[in-house]
Amino acid sequence: MKVIKMENPFEISKAVSQVIISKINEKPDCVLGFATGASPVETYKRIIEAYEKGEVSLKNITTFNLDEYCGLSHENKNSYYYFMKENLFGKTDVDFEKVNFLSGLSGNIEDECLAYQKAIENAGGIDIQLLGVGTNGHIGFNEPSESFSDGPFRVKLAQSTIDANSQYFGEDEEMPRYALTMGIGDIMRAEKIILIATGASKAKAVYSMVKGEVTPLCPASVLQNHKDVTIYIDNESAALL
Ligand code: F6R
Repeated sequence: MKVIKMENPFEISKAVSQVIISKINEKPDCVLGFATGASPVETYKRIIEAYEKGEVSLKNITTFNLDEYCGLSHENKNSYYYFMKENLFGKTDVDFEKVNFLSGLSGNIEDECLAYQKAIENAGGIDIQLLGVGTNGHIGFNEPSESFSDGPFRVKLAQSTIDANSQYFGEDEEMPRYALTMGIGDIMRAEKIILIATGASKAKAVYSMVKGEVTPLCPASVLQNHKDVTIYIDNESAALL
């Protein structure tokens, strides 16, 4: 596990976007695993800036997002599909035909999950998987549990996840209690993993992920077993290390 501490989230976004942009320029049809939430947003801004300056084209990449809320359509402003359209895809030349998402509306969850796992395999696997980490140590929506998952599955969101994410939902909107997520196995099969954790609220999770035992009670701790993972943290999230 390589841990890189930087001064602030802006510096992290410059470093992480550079790794992603270099990968795209070296392998224009690379396969990227993306995350939503606050952690990657600045990085996405730097990628958009590079695209606008003509330094990178995203038109041949294939993307897989980690997770999606159950019950939300692509048009729903709270869906992760919408988030990615607003914060990255729609502001670049990404080919939406090559954008892959678990469907929160699928009537057959088992088939949906199997098809997603197959699609990752058929694309040749993920070259770089970008991650954030939950305050409870979740990655994707793999919440603390008794065992590590392998492929995609439907998950009941933990109360701490509901508490952290309900701020994004309006007063008259109810945050879904379930989501579909890539499994730990899917994440671990990525060639390279980059995780961003910033702010004091992540300090405990960062400590358990980096220094704690490998246990499904802190899903991110499994990353200690990956051959190429880089964790980018700032002073606040590094406070307990
Ligand atoms: C999002 C995801 C989650 C988030 C995590 C941190 O697609 O899979 O694991 O990365 O909840 O969220 P933020 O970055 O909002 O603190």
